[in-house]
Amino acid sequence: MTHFEIRAKDGLARLGRFTTKHGTVKTPLLMPVVHPGKSVIKAPELVSHYGFQMVITNSYIIRSHERFRNIAVEKGVHELLNFSGPIMTDSGTFQMYFHSLPDEEIDPLEIVEFQKSIGTDIGTILDVFSDPKVGKTKVEQDMKISLERAKLSVDMKEDMMLAGTVQGGSYPDLREISAKGLASLDFDVHPIGGVVPFMEQYRYADIVRATLAAKKHLPPDRPVHLFGCGHPMFFAQAALLGCDFFDSASYAKFAEGGRMLHPTGTIHLNQLNELPCDCPVCSNTTAPEFKTLDKTERDLQLMKHNLYVTSAEMRRVRQAISEGKLFELAATRARSHPALLEAFRVMMEYSQIMIDSDPIGKTSSIFYTGSETVMRSEVVSFYQRLYELYPYRNTNTIILVPDNANRPYSESASIIIDEVRRRKPDDLILLFVTPIGIVPWELEHVHPAQQGVFPETIDSSSLEIVQQRLHKFLDSISFENLLWFRRNAATNALSDSFKDSGKIVIAETASDLIGAIDDKPDEKQDWIKRKLRAVLTYQWGPEVASMVNLEGLSIDISRSTGKIRHVRLGSEIILTLVPTTGLFTATYEGGLQLLKHGLDPKYIVRLDDEVREYVADGKSALAKFITHAHPNLRAGEEVVVVDSSNTLLGVGKALLNGHEMIAFQRGVAVNIRHSKKS
Ligand code: GUN
Ligand code: ZN
Repeated sequence: MTHFEIRAKDGLARLGRFTTKHGTVKTPLLMPVVHPGKSVIKAPELVSHYGFQMVITNSYIIRSHERFRNIAVEKGVHELLNFSGPIMTDSGTFQMYFHSLPDEEIDPLEIVEFQKSIGTDIGTILDVFSDPKVGKTKVEQDMKISLERAKLSVDMKEDMMLAGTVQGGSYPDLREISAKGLASLDFDVHPIGGVVPFMEQYRYADIVRATLAAKKHLPPDRPVHLFGCGHPMFFAQAALLGCDFFDSASYAKFAEGGRMLHPTGTIHLNQLNELPCDCPVCSNTTAPEFKTLDKTERDLQLMKHNLYVTSAEMRRVRQAISEGKLFELAATRARSHPALLEAFRVMMEYSQIMIDSDPIGKTSSIFYTGSETVMRSEVVSFYQRLYELYPYRNTNTIILVPDNANRPYSESASIIIDEVRRRKPDDLILLFVTPIGIVPWELEHVHPAQQGVFPETIDSSSLEIVQQRLHKFLDSISFENLLWFRRNAATNALSDSFKDSGKIVIAETASDLIGAIDDKPDEKQDWIKRKLRAVLTYQWGPEVASMVNLEGLSIDISRSTGKIRHVRLGSEIILTLVPTTGLFTATYEGGLQLLKHGLDPKYIVRLDDEVREYVADGKSALAKFITHAHPNLRAGEEVVVVDSSNTLLGVGKALLNGHEMIAFQRGVAVNIRHSKKS
């Protein structure tokens, strides 16, 4: 039984809820490390004043000191910390490594037993922390010992939740073996261990590789904890990689050394003439004043600053996930240090893992953050679908209209579009050359084609990708003539790459362009049906495109925007176009039509008959009742929900991807929009 549920996704990040015996917490989450004796700021204050939800303490330290041990064993760890919220305990692994303690110092099973006996909410196995200086053979040995201990420990966890740590150093193949082994055991949380030295040496790229290697094999319904990551400059990126838990001893350690944590890096108080921070501590003093405090008071104030700042950054991360804006936050943070940017670029190499997890149909805009923007999963996934599913591959003329960074394209190019639409669609394909690449007119409103916010000038590496996408797409179309409207300096150069083809005509003005298109009037207004077919195919596959030919089908167009609003069958609405995503939602009748027209099984989610009536009444389809979901189904898709005999119960938006729908035992899998009875 897992205790985790997902409320929203963004990249590999999850906005979640994790339930313990001492309460439910929101993830991603940061746990401050508290020492039962030394911590000046106690657990209750960390919650009430700084906004933390859970703390982590060390069972080895508790066990090693008689006065802590006695209280913890007699009254429990919650009493010891005077804290009634969720508590995680670590096992002493890090102390073994840091102080080079002998193996006999901690018995791996006894320490699990001890954590159980003090009533911790989440205990941790005694994994082996590999020194980054040792070779691969030793790291492999350590990882295997960790795995052996994991097997023995998990059998004795009883009703304590247990964290099974992934080890394997900087070797992704070892991380994979470790994660696979742990995945088959009944753990509740999976820390990524052994990364503290990488963090200290700014080897963030190694952390990215290690984390993604582990994520590949870890069950999606267990939170992943990036052990020892307490620096806010990496929170956004780590969350984007799918890390749900973080812990921070850094807030105290850095303070002790006179250093302030910021989401953009570390600054030593001595270097400051100003306090570049708006936390309550920094707002109430000045840099010169701060420096005059005696060490004890200064450390305390620095610690408070560090707590305010790290807590706020984690809230920022959660907010960004809920807005679908975590990529932008991580991209911004990546500019704080070259090592972070390096790590960010390494992450971009794993685009398929990101695409498989990232929800489709986001409503937020895509802000240009740099040349990586055109390789974002939303954009790459748009092109994967476009190449595969654009339905029009034969034409006489292709018209290329460069985007001039003003949205919507249809407004900035309205004269041309109006003229084009007076002509027979079968003879023309109208394409926009945009900063993300080529966008067919029919799909201009589909996210992220319309929702990209770019500067007027395009950087050269993005331009190169735009050119590749343009050529790849045109290579898939058979055409006679290419008309290029040269109205944008940045993309004009791209037209040169067609010079040798002998097919291109350059138009310098809109009237030149219009003059060059044959005037074959479109009396039937087939452009709108053409758009409908393209969006249906893009969204649900080629089979359902035949819905366009249904007897009695009509399309409502918005007078103000010219966009499709509804598709009706007779007088009944079957589909509605969502302006922010450019994709359809279906009504119950729409769902029936999709099924009747051979909807791709990817978009069909099957549910246990036991809860058939709930969903038919319009309640959400919960993950624990899903009996079948396609492994390639992405979160965010509009899906139909059926019972075991394929009766349609409702239609709605998938919150999880296919894998997650099967794995999760808590939370909503499909948000039902329309159902059989409502
Ligand atoms: N704290 C920081 N890193 C680690 C790790 O690798 N394992 C454990 N158990 N605790 C840690
Ligand atoms: Zn501050």
